[in-house]
Amino acid sequence: MGLTKDQLAQFEQGKVVFKRVFTPENGLGPLFNGNACSECHEDPVAGGVGDEVEVHATRFVPPNTCDPLFQEGGPVIQQNATPLLQAHGIQKEEIPPSATSQARRTTPPVFGFGLIDAIPDETILAYEDPNDKDGDGISGRANRSIDGRLGRFGRKAAVNSLSDFNAGAFPQEQGITTPRLPVEETINGKPVPQGTDPAPDPEISLAEIEQVTNFLRFLAPPPRKFVKDHREQEQVEQGKKIFGKVRCARCHVPEMRTGPSNIQALNKRKVALYSDLLLHDMGPVLADICLDLATPSEFRTELLMGLRFRKHFLHDGRAKTIKEAIEQHGGEAKNSRDAYTALSAKDKEALLKFLETISDLFVPAHDNG
Ligand code: HEC
Ligand code: HEC
Repeated sequence: MGLTKDQLAQFEQGKVVFKRVFTPENGLGPLFNGNACSECHEDPVAGGVGDEVEVHATRFVPPNTCDPLFQEGGPVIQQNATPLLQAHGIQKEEIPPSATSQARRTTPPVFGFGLIDAIPDETILAYEDPNDKDGDGISGRANRSIDGRLGRFGRKAAVNSLSDFNAGAFPQEQGITTPRLPVEETINGKPVPQGTDPAPDPEISLAEIEQVTNFLRFLAPPPRKFVKDHREQEQVEQGKKIFGKVRCARCHVPEMRTGPSNIQALNKRKVALYSDLLLHDMGPVLADICLDLATPSEFRTELLMGLRFRKHFLHDGRAKTIKEAIEQHGGEAKNSRDAYTALSAKDKEALLKFLETISDLFVPAHDNG
């Protein structure tokens, strides 16, 4: 996407940290989910999807109180332990007793997320309609973190910025302490046993976390699939119209623009994200945990930008096909789903064809394999 020589160097430097495999000696664990960012975000190249499915848990007190259970080890329940911790009889973290529900989370692709990071808050907020003033059954509201900042990352849109997400991923996914979180996360509220964490804290520097952010910042979004065949092209065009007509585009907003940036590759760029980055109530069937302002049934409109890489769909991967994912839309998306169900077979096919053009395999601009 037109990087300068310096930026390309930063991209390459960050990729090394993204792919760094941590061991207990240099900081891994003692509790962890994976040993490298690229262990999970890996397919077809670093930054892509992964087959890892995580376990998260929180406590929801209706109507709107959400406790991320930091006192009991936090919302991410680590599924692995290093040999030193296993020697203490601990194989993984347990679901905290106070949790009211748990969630499964598949690993999403993060291609083009530098552009998502660069979209101004106002652009996203312009799509909010918390009280459904226009009466179309679709509201949409922003999540906010405890400090009031707008959230956009994660399936519940609870995290404000790419750099915040990455800084949190090191401790939560890999058990790597950072200058911001210099003490190991507890094991369900209990400090890690002595001698199970040999590496000196912090186990990574802010500069290295910033390098990872640069890697993701400069990682190109997947280009749309180019359809050569004239008849297919017409079908895709038709599918795109139907995507608007049955109101998929009301939530899956096809395009936004980044704000002014002194990084040319991120400066006022169009990004075909297919999301409003807002929370929508998707009904009781999809509901799992709360997170910050998001209630159990609210999810961020999933970006369709990386759809082509996914092998299973929806937050926990329960849908095996795109068709199944659409059929399971409920709540605010029910009318749109019903409109989809009522389409002729030909129109359904066209819609799916269109979705495939944002969902076929490609080779990214930067070979980061
Ligand atoms: C064990 C697997 C695993 C590891 C290791 C891992 N991730 Fe992730 N990542 C996930 C999952 C699962 C999610 C989805 C979380 C959610 O939806 O709440 C995610 C989400 C993300 C997102 C936000 C995506 C979105 O849709 O908003 C970013 C950015 C990200 N990871 C970056 C990283 C970085 C950087 C590292 C290394 C420090 C890392 N991840 C390590 C599994 C992993
Ligand atoms: C009210 C907002 C809304 C409407 C309308 C809507 N969606 Fe969604 N869509 C979502 C949300 C939220 C998710 C994430 C749900 C989850 O992960 O459980 C999602 C997920 C998806 C996914 C799965 C993405 C993935 O990789 O997991 C697909 C495909 C999809 N939508 C297509 C459509 C299509 C096609 C339509 C129109 C028929 C549509 N959506 C209408 C909000 C909406």
